[in-house]
Amino acid sequence: MIRLSHVTKEYPRSGRALDDVSFELRKGEFCFLTGHSGAGKTTVLRLIHMAETPTSGEVRVSGYSSTRIRRKDVAMLRRKIGYVFQDFRLLQDRTAAQNVAFALEVTGARPAVIRAKVAKLLAQVGLASKAQAYPSELSGGEQQRVAIARALAHDPLVLLADEATGNLDERATWGIFELFRSINSAGTAVLFATHDLDLVRKSVGARVIELDHGQIVYDSATVTV
Ligand SMILES: Nc1ncnc2c1ncn2[C@@H]1O[C@H](COP(=O)(O)OP(=O)(O)OP(=O)(O)O)[C@@H](O)[C@H]1O
Ligand SMILES: [Mg+2]
Repeated sequence: MIRLSHVTKEYPRSGRALDDVSFELRKGEFCFLTGHSGAGKTTVLRLIHMAETPTSGEVRVSGYSSTRIRRKDVAMLRRKIGYVFQDFRLLQDRTAAQNVAFALEVTGARPAVIRAKVAKLLAQVGLASKAQAYPSELSGGEQQRVAIARALAHDPLVLLADEATGNLDERATWGIFELFRSINSAGTAVLFATHDLDLVRKSVGARVIELDHGQIVYDSATVTV
């Protein structure tokens, strides 16, 4: 579903961020992406989101190729990808429900359809009772749940999480992580970039890809025992 083949990414001033990175994420798979600061995690996610293009190599996502995709197809592709950030990025002047609805309004869906979908999404992330709250009235963990509900609005094939628990305490981190796991059990693939090795260690059996200076130094899927 997602395949990076010999991807190298160079930025004009900072040089090589990724160096010959190849891996595949299958439909419904859960995978951690770890590595020190600057290792290239966010760059991998941005390439999958086609917010960046590789300097060489190819990124394929759900039938689209980074070498051929047209600008107008990028918007279509992004509906298949949910993106969750460390800092939530909610609209502060909109309620939880309005934040989620906003993602659906761009598709031109009817208001009644949007209302029903928003209610379902907020219930799915355990936030039905806070639908009318503004972000400033929500805890960090609750704000992240809203951001996850928003990311799920288009029933994406994959959720990309970039340090999605980076601003949360241990308890909230675990709650959000469990939410990602339950979303994954329902069939959505998850690529979860994190510094939090504690989280990785506790998740026995999950796939782990480790980046170091832009190269994959470990991929549990290719380790044979
Ligand atoms: N837009 C950009 N322009 C120039 N250089 C960039 C840009 N984005 C990232 N880089 C560089 O690419 C390298 C990888 O950065 P990236 O953000 O992918 O790392 P990361 O693993 O996500 O780090 P962190 O854990 O700190 O978020 C770094 O050396 C960084 O300086
Ligand atoms: Mg990053």
